[in-house]
Amino acid sequence: MRNSLIVALVSVCGLTLVVAAGASEHLPAGPIHDRHELMEGIGADAKAIGGAAKIGDKAAAVAAATRMQSAAKKIPALFPKGSLHENSRAKPEIWENWDRFVELAKDLENAAGGVLKVAAEGGELGATLRPVFATCKGCHEAFRVPEEE
Ligand code: HEC
Repeated sequence: MRNSLIVALVSVCGLTLVVAAGASEHLPAGPIHDRHELMEGIGADAKAIGGAAKIGDKAAAVAAATRMQSAAKKIPALFPKGSLHENSRAKPEIWENWDRFVELAKDLENAAGGVLKVAAEGGELGATLRPVFATCKGCHEAFRVPEEE
């Protein structure tokens, strides 16, 4: 039990290092580097929306969802055909199934729009999170190479 916990911790730290090492400086300048930054921003915004929903901070949710909505619009352009790299986790399936990929980017834009709508109506922000995260998951499962164990 204890050993497996340590192993789990070590592997989590290892992953963090791998992620950090695979970060921007090891990516070629251009769309592969830029989409990494874009996704990091989208990740931060998703977290911010989650945190804002928890404490009912409408302004913070609106700010993060607005950024996420415009970031989502930029996704397709940062995946030019065949832009693969050893430090990128993009799958070649992206270009084999391009319409679906673009559709998922649009879904994220709409999910962010859903947050804005609910915030404007004074509704329950927590309910807007599920479609946001379902979209991340849907696209990552289909189009991103899983993290190494
Ligand atoms: C339309 C598809 C798509 C959607 C939607 C999407 N992602 Fe991604 N994401 C990708 C792909 C593909 C990669 C891998 C890119 C690469 O490595 O070149 C990625 C990478 C990432 C990364 C890793 C960045 C890095 O290089 O270390 C994070 C973090 C991330 N996404 C967060 C999110 C979050 C959070 C959401 C939802 C709020 C989301 N993504 C929605 C396709 C998507």
